[in-house]
Order: sequence, then C-alpha cells, then structure tokens
Amino acid sequence: MQSFPRPPDKVLQRLAARHGTPLWVYDAAVLDARIAEWQRAFDGSDHRICYAVKANGTLAILQRFARAGLGFDVVSCGELARVERAGGAPGDTVFSGVGKRADEIDAALAAGIGSLNCESAPELELINARAGNARLTAPVALRVNPGVDAGTHRHIATGDHDDKFGIPLDEAASLARYAATLPGIALHGLAVHIGSQLTDLAPVSAALERTLALHDALTASGLRLTQLDAGGGLGVRYRDETPPSVADYAALLRRCIGERKLRLVVEPGRALVAEAGVLVARVELVKPGAQHAFVVVDAGMSELIRPALYDAWHPLEVIGMPGEAFSCEVVGPLCESGDVLGRARTLYAEAGDLVVVGCAGAYGSSMSSHYNARPRAAAVMLDGNDARVVRKRETIADLWRGETMS
Ligand code: LLP
Repeated sequence: MQSFPRPPDKVLQRLAARHGTPLWVYDAAVLDARIAEWQRAFDGSDHRICYAVKANGTLAILQRFARAGLGFDVVSCGELARVERAGGAPGDTVFSGVGKRADEIDAALAAGIGSLNCESAPELELINARAGNARLTAPVALRVNPGVDAGTHRHIATGDHDDKFGIPLDEAASLARYAATLPGIALHGLAVHIGSQLTDLAPVSAALERTLALHDALTASGLRLTQLDAGGGLGVRYRDETPPSVADYAALLRRCIGERKLRLVVEPGRALVAEAGVLVARVELVKPGAQHAFVVVDAGMSELIRPALYDAWHPLEVIGMPGEAFSCEVVGPLCESGDVLGRARTLYAEAGDLVVVGCAGAYGSSMSSHYNARPRAAAVMLDGNDARVVRKRETIADLWRGETMS
C-alpha cells in the first residue's frame, strides 16, 4: 500500500532512468480531480477560482488550469506573464502583493487585469496615478488585515496585526471611501487572506465576518461593492493534519456571504497542486553518524526548501530492495546543515535507491534555486499513458546565462 498519493514505483523508476534525478513528476489525473473538486464545491454560486500561481507556475500546469476555466492570482509581472504565456486570461486574474512596482501596475493595467488587490494607502495613490497616466480606470479591491491568528507556521501567517500584509480594518473604511472618490480607481470589493496551510476553519470564519462587517458598513454608506475575495490558504495533509474538505470550506464561505449579492473569489494554491507532485531523488550514499545515519540524496534545499524554511514534514518513501529499517536523516548534498528533506526517519536505503518525496507539487519547484550552482531539475507530466517533459533539466551553461566578465 502506498502511504501517500504517487504514481506507481515502476513508472517512477522508468522516468528516473530516462530523465535523471532529481526529477519532478506531476500527475495530470490528480490535477484534474482537484480542479473538479473545487468546481463542484462552489457550483451554483457566483464565484471565480483564481489559482495562486506562486504555488507552482509550471506552464503546463497553468495551461491545464486555464483550459479548465480557472482564473489566476499573481504577485508579480513575471507570474502574470506566465499566465498569459499559458493561455490564461488577465481579465480573470487578480494581482496581489504588498509592493507592486509602478511598471508592474502599468503592465497589469495594459493587459486588462481583473483586479489589483491593493494593500496600502500609498499603493492606492500609486495605482490611481498610473491609471491616470494611462487614461484607464483600475479595477481595485482593498485587501484588509483582519487581525486574526491563522494558527499556522509564523512564516506563512499573513492576517495578524503585526504582519506586513493588508490594510488594518480600522483604516480600511476611510480608505475605501477615499478610493471611491479617485478618478483612476474603480473599487469593486474587499479581499482578505490570513495565511497558508490552514487546518482550522475558525480563523477563516472570524476573518470573513470582520471583512463582511466592513463590507456592510461601506455598502450602507452608498458604495457599490460587487465582489469579495476570500484569498487562499486551505491546507493539505502532509503527515497527520486533518484539513477541512474543500466542500466544508466552500460551505463556510457561502454561509458567511449569505444573501449578499456578491461574487466570491477564492485563491487556492497548495490545495490544487500539492498532492499532484512528487520529487524523485537518488541515494548517493549512506553515511554513519553519531546519533543516526545520514541518507545523502541528490536533491536538497535547492529543489525543496520547505523543510529547511518551515520545518515542514514531507512523506518520504524509498524504492529499492527491502532491508532492515534504520533511524536516519534524509539530507541533500548542499553545504548547509539545514539542507534536510526528512528528519528523524526510520527507513532502509542504500546507494542507488530512489527516494520519493511526496506532496511536493506546491512550493517546491516554484521556490527552487541555483544555490550551490545546481541547475534546476527537469519536470515530467504524466497524463494517462503519456509522460511528457514539461521542463527540461537546466544545463551548466544555464547557470551563468546573462552574466558577463571583462
Ligand atoms: N492568496 C494570497 C494573497 C497569498 O499570499 C497566498 C499564499 C495564496 C493566495 C495561496 O495560498 P495557498 O492556498 O497556497 O495556501 N511557501 C509557503 C507558502 C507561502 C504562501 C504565500 N501566500 C510554503 O511552502 O508553505
């Protein structure tokens, strides 16, 4: 029995032999199942599912989502360009982020962005000025900071008073009224996002209630707001977490909106892609250690930085000949003690075996780097009987593309 969703061992062995390791393997059937689950959950209500590109911006994944009718949530011009390249519609795209540059605002407006989610008073002024310059009106939502503790890792919590994100609720009312007077701004709603890998609905509900109370106050004072963006954040099961189902999450959001005539926007990232991807690595060697052995593999924090950055736990399994399990740390080859894929594991592995890192479709390849001058890994998409390279392995020459010497 496989302990986490992944393609059959034989398939992974064949792909690793053919394309080398480290290798990302994405499963289109899982992506399609997730899309269907999200669409079903919101079916019947006015809504738009805007996939958060930062979770995984691989063009083949974006293309699949665009073809299924999803919109997108982007946080840079680069992500917007990826969406357009993959056939996504800028008009179905929201642009989030605390520090959008003037040229990014210009590009988003020129592309016909669906919404600029504005996070501060100075940004509102900048959007108004740039829209004025371009003789356009910018579709804007104000992203509020509802002051709730999302109960997740502190690096991925975004909705509390001390976080850099959003406009504090007590400032948002006057800013919204001011926004409505600006010629370059068409304010269409509020947005909120309290964090990622959420496993409890209570903070989501608290954040929405506070945001909707502001919404009601604004509409009572005559503003016409047509949209509510509830952000992303729904968690997945990496180990023993019990995240709410998409259906329960959707039911909560719909309940909160109630009778209000509002289009609901959601921005899931992780929940759409995490389980669709694995990272396949090869064991280089097994090194004895004082406390436990080190299983050194050819993937590390340059591919998957989540364990190093957030102490994240990913399921790991070895494809190889069975043997007596020993206690070990599965580590990468990079020169950092934090370069760990799995701490305190009990497994059997020997040089040459394959290690499959599960639930790695989200925030894996999108956060990968060239650190230690390691070319980025290849990626394959499985689609029925088809296995297509959707990202070529980088070459050594790719490492210094754009650099010059005297
Ligand atoms: N919308 C906004 C405004 C966001 O900031 C994010 C994520 C999302 C949507 C998507 O959240 P999701 O549904 O994927 O939780 N690198 C971290 C996660 C950072 C999330 C940042 N913002 C990790 O690997 O856990």
